[in-house]
Amino acid sequence: METSKLRVDLESRSYDIILGYDILGNLGQHLKALGFKGKLLVITDDNVFPLYGEKCLKGLKEAGYSAKIEVIPAGEGSKSWPAADQLLTSALDFVMDRDSGIVALGGGVVGDLAGFIAATYLRGVAYVQVPTTLLAQVDSSVGGKVAINHPRGKNIIGSFYQPRLVLIDLKTLETLPFRELRTGMAEVVKYGIIRDQGFFNYLYDHLTPTLEQEKDFYRHIVYRSCAIKAEVVSMDEREGGLRAILNFGHTLGHALEAATSYKHFNHGEAVSYGMLLASRLAFMRGILNEESLKAIEEILFRLGFKELPPGLTMEGIKEGLKYDKKRRGDKLAFILPEAIGKVQVYTDIPGEYLDQLISSFLKEFTGKQENK
Ligand code: NAD
Ligand code: GLY
Repeated sequence: METSKLRVDLESRSYDIILGYDILGNLGQHLKALGFKGKLLVITDDNVFPLYGEKCLKGLKEAGYSAKIEVIPAGEGSKSWPAADQLLTSALDFVMDRDSGIVALGGGVVGDLAGFIAATYLRGVAYVQVPTTLLAQVDSSVGGKVAINHPRGKNIIGSFYQPRLVLIDLKTLETLPFRELRTGMAEVVKYGIIRDQGFFNYLYDHLTPTLEQEKDFYRHIVYRSCAIKAEVVSMDEREGGLRAILNFGHTLGHALEAATSYKHFNHGEAVSYGMLLASRLAFMRGILNEESLKAIEEILFRLGFKELPPGLTMEGIKEGLKYDKKRRGDKLAFILPEAIGKVQVYTDIPGEYLDQLISSFLKEFTGKQENK
């Protein structure tokens, strides 16, 4: 499989996304070409380290780099102050200077945390993203949103800080558990709904519930997703307007995550239900036709997003909506599809629509009627 390249066009902060199969070992060569000349701190997690840690380090050392690896516990809990503090101390112990760089080898947790370390250590050192989950390859590694969580909310402490390179090795997807693959696939479907009807149709025709596909399928969908994200980020780096469309499904998705104390759903799962709800809201509001809604529902259901945990309540979900970052005063902002391939921000959704939406959603998926 040949290697492909995309560009995130941001003037002096522009960078390439390089995509190929079994290319992790070439990372050192790419860093040399980019002019990285100092020490490298590789940040990864304890699932990814045994699979790819040695291969990554070997390639860096062969290219002449002095590299140290830090392994964090896998999972959202590592996007925290204590983990950040430990990594910053490790960077100091390794005597990293402004020529030093950081490599984020892992999923979105590693990427967001390592990017946060890169943004803050010595007021900013260069870093590269080497995403190993589908979600990270199509979304979190591109665009420079870096963050850690606060006990009161996800991604509250962070910055926009672009990497110098995103290197996507599609071979890493072969070890990804099914749940994580499906999670990333939800984000892939998101790109079709927000920006590209042809891509949505391709997914509609090709996606199978098992997600067992040829290499070329993954290459195509990762490439197309990254191309859409790169285009959007290039037009609106700091989410002044257009970039908000990438948050399709996130308002209600985050509310579901919060309502289940961040214990049941992972990010992509919650966003899937959020996309379903936002599409239904668009239909209720009269801006999306029934045929498009059915197509969106069909593809999400095919991915198996059909079950909610017990204990979810209307009250819990509405409480979760209060902390949405897009909220302006008492107005909630929803990204709603007007057609497949086109979304728009709406802030005029009547409260009774939401009540009706959530109530029938809970009834359908948990079999319980919720009045409160
Ligand atoms: P994750 O990083 O927790 O990875 C999921 C799991 O897969 C982990 O257990 C990890 O150890 C494991 N894993 C990673 N690569 C593997 C591989 N190749 N083989 C086997 N196991 C592997 O989760 P994620 O879904 O990648 O990312 C979620 C995070 O991304 C959240 O914190 C979310 O807030 C963030 N996010 C950020 C952005 C952004 O723009 N910065 C966008 C979307 C999501
Ligand atoms: N994942 C949303 C964004 O990058 O803006």
